[in-house]
Amino acid sequence: MGDEEKAPVPAPDFSIPKPVIYGVLGFLGVLGLVVLTIFLSLRPSKPSFTIQDITVSSFNVSTSQPYRLSTNMQVTISSRNTMSRVAIIYREMELYATYRNEQITFRYSLPLTYQEHNEFVVWSPYLEGHVAAISPISGPVLMQDLNYGAVLVIIKIEGRLKFRVGGWTSAYYRLYGHCPAMIQLGDMDTKKDFAVSAKEFKFLLVQNCHVEIAR
Ligand SMILES: *[C@@H]1O[C@H](CO)[C@@H](O)[C@H](O)[C@H]1NC(C)=O
Repeated sequence: MGDEEKAPVPAPDFSIPKPVIYGVLGFLGVLGLVVLTIFLSLRPSKPSFTIQDITVSSFNVSTSQPYRLSTNMQVTISSRNTMSRVAIIYREMELYATYRNEQITFRYSLPLTYQEHNEFVVWSPYLEGHVAAISPISGPVLMQDLNYGAVLVIIKIEGRLKFRVGGWTSAYYRLYGHCPAMIQLGDMDTKKDFAVSAKEFKFLLVQNCHVEIAR
């Protein structure tokens, strides 16, 4: 009752002048574009690893239980940084060889490596294995592989990397690499007590590794 008689209260005029609003919106838009551009150009991507070749200088395995393997091999492994603006720093990188998930060489530590954008880096670690025990389950499989003439060895890479662009450096990521390498050691007599490769074998593989990075 009597409400219709009240005059509408004029809203207080807190309005901001339009040019200021457009100015702020324009500034935020440009800022957004800059951030988006930086994000798109910096979004780090993992490097690609490739086994170039493997030289097996010795391979000596006992043909009955306990299965013991001693092998030495030199692995040439390369890494390519495919990013055009971001450099990579590798730390605590270690390589070793496995057969059926069993480690058959010692770990080899690669030096701290700085890799520029688009750069190709090659390492040639010499992996040594003095008498690694092969499980009773894997032993007979290894004998079959040797009779067949080909052994699938996986070169494993474990380490850490961080990305750098300009003065900014990312946190460390863990790196895991998995590089299958089929090595063919020629005729090895598994009927003797020790199956021993007769000579040094060099394999050109150019086999890509599967690489994962994780925080
Ligand atoms: C193979 O290994 C066994 C045991 O370690 C050793 O006695 C033998 O001399 C080795 N053979 C060759 C050719 O290195």
